[in-house]
Amino acid sequence: MKTILHIDSSVRRTDNSTPSYNSISKSFGRYFIDTWLNKNHQDKVVCRDLGLNPPTFICQDWIAAAFTPEQNRSESQQRVLAESDRYFDEVAQADIILITAPMYNYGMPAVLKAWFDQMLRVNKTFTFDLARGDFPIEPILSGKTLVLLTSAGEFGFGIGGVREQMNHLSPHIKELAKYLGVDKFYEIGSEYQEFADDRHVLSVEKAKQDIVALVNLLN
Ligand SMILES: Cc1cc2nc3c(=O)[nH]c(=O)nc-3n(C[C@H](O)[C@H](O)[C@H](O)COP(=O)(O)O)c2cc1C
Repeated sequence: MKTILHIDSSVRRTDNSTPSYNSISKSFGRYFIDTWLNKNHQDKVVCRDLGLNPPTFICQDWIAAAFTPEQNRSESQQRVLAESDRYFDEVAQADIILITAPMYNYGMPAVLKAWFDQMLRVNKTFTFDLARGDFPIEPILSGKTLVLLTSAGEFGFGIGGVREQMNHLSPHIKELAKYLGVDKFYEIGSEYQEFADDRHVLSVEKAKQDIVALVNLLN
């Protein structure tokens, strides 16, 4: 039995009375999970909608608590880290991490960045050792697969595309993924949402086909 941690990060919902207001990235996430569970009824899915329940921003007290050795932490420091601990436990228990993300201002939504800031923690998700020279940081977790499902309003953000250099969404998440223990990374996305023409329809259709193919590949 596998555990999938399903993280949404669009601030849009999926139950609007006007369907065009609904989140596309969240609909991809739902499609992935439905397709997956059709094949694997027994698997467990843990859901976290960061758009509807945003993480707390980290602060100076959070940093002080994170850098205090666990056995020396005061009760208030343990409380400050409780949210981070919850996110860590969810990631640690997951075999597959499914992240759905819209492109906001050429990068990830603030709520998703806030989740990464809470999640990535010294001696919890990574170790820091200057004996390693210029690259002192190493992940602690391993063996996980990350599936990233995205939606963008413009187009050409893929390799060789006209806006490749403007894509700070998937390269950033891919870079951070290794500190979640990810060693297999897959990305599927649709583009053209702002153009609302046939290119968008085709892009969404292609993304859904790619999701089915990815579910087959991972099974
Ligand atoms: C605050 C905001 C910023 C956005 N910035 C960009 C952007 O930089 N590039 C882009 O291609 N689309 C941008 N878009 C369009 C979204 O990526 C697009 O609407 C996408 O479908 C949103 O994902 P969702 O449907 O899952 O909510 C932006 C939308 C919003 C609301």
